[in-house]
Amino acid sequence: MSDTILVTGGAGFIGSCFIRHILSTEDVRIVNLDALTYAGNPENLTQIEKKTNYTFVHGSIQNAELVKSICEKHNVTSIINFAAESHVDRSIINAHPFIDTNVLGTLVLLETLNELKLTKLVHVSTDEVYGSLGKEGKFTEFTPLSPNSPYSASKASSDLLVNAFVSTFNSPAIITRCSNNYGPFQFPEKLIPLMILNAIEDKPLPVYGDGLNVRDWIHVQDHCEAIWTVYNNGELGQVYNIGGNCELTNIEVVKTILKQLNKPETLIKFINDRPGHDRRYAMDIEKISYELGWKPRLNFEQGIRETIQWYIDNPQWCNNVRTGAYREYYKMQYGDN
Ligand code: NAD
Ligand code: DAU
Repeated sequence: MSDTILVTGGAGFIGSCFIRHILSTEDVRIVNLDALTYAGNPENLTQIEKKTNYTFVHGSIQNAELVKSICEKHNVTSIINFAAESHVDRSIINAHPFIDTNVLGTLVLLETLNELKLTKLVHVSTDEVYGSLGKEGKFTEFTPLSPNSPYSASKASSDLLVNAFVSTFNSPAIITRCSNNYGPFQFPEKLIPLMILNAIEDKPLPVYGDGLNVRDWIHVQDHCEAIWTVYNNGELGQVYNIGGNCELTNIEVVKTILKQLNKPETLIKFINDRPGHDRRYAMDIEKISYELGWKPRLNFEQGIRETIQWYIDNPQWCNNVRTGAYREYYKMQYGDN
């Protein structure tokens, strides 16, 4: 066993998938530092929490002393940074936590990387940093950053900090930028789990604007495999786009969910558009495919069927995450829908 990886934000949707996957397939140690915000859920990790090569630490990536002491205590060799405030709609309500965690937290990790001379940092970022596409074309790694929401501006800022550390200090860092993830354990503020749970409960499905915004969907398992590929074989200082080659309009996604659940389309309710709503995302994944040999494996039809089934099979998880604070957020965002 060689690497001890500090995984940050490992109690969230993607980070927990990464930890479950890696600890069941690879011979590494993982230390998971997570602040357990509303989106962080220890239940996502029950299947691996007793493993001897896994340690959980409750705390924030903004706490420089804590991050350093964890790295020293556990002989951490590298960092994979998933920790973030991740929901666009919440960033429109209050951008401050986004700057605190996504920008200042990333700065702490970069400084720790340098100070302790760790071998690498993989910074998990998003296609949203590139802004919005028209009908044609895809985002490549050369597309200029042009974020439109406070969330994507905070992620773009963190990416720029990573680039600056690479240029200025030769810091061993890599950025991954991925498109929209779906799969089990996703917090039901995001489109797919929100629509699945509302449809199961015969509640209205709130679609923003005309529902024709396009997202490039990727199963979370594919994303985690791509990150692992980049962690092992990616070139330091580089950016790698990750995507699912699966462009769908929101209304197509919502209708697919209704059809699989055998629910009527009359549940769809078009509501006011998200301010600054990006029209279309699509990732060009030639670089990671040709240079590192990674491609998405799971197709949407099967992935969404299994995801819907997971939410049906896990009502306790769904009830536990829909706390009072969640219900307050839901009411603020959607009224009495
Ligand atoms: P999530 O909101 O489900 O999880 C975020 C996790 O970070 C939670 O466990 C939370 O407790 C933790 N966290 C928040 N602030 C923290 C802090 N200050 N210190 C330590 N932990 C903190 O998010 P996700 O969907 O799993 O996304 C993970 C990463 O992937 C994010 O960086 C996000 O920007 C990026 N990303 C997400 C998607 C997507 O579709 N969800 C796509 C591309 C990239
Ligand atoms: O593209 C990657 C990004 O994908 C990640 O960086 C973000 O962390 C993640 O939240 C996600 O951002 P989006 O804003 O694309 O995801 P969301 O699930 O919030 O919305 C997907 C689409 O569905 C978007 O066009 C808005 C629309 N939508 C969303 C919600 C929550 C609705 O129409 N109604 C809704 O209630």
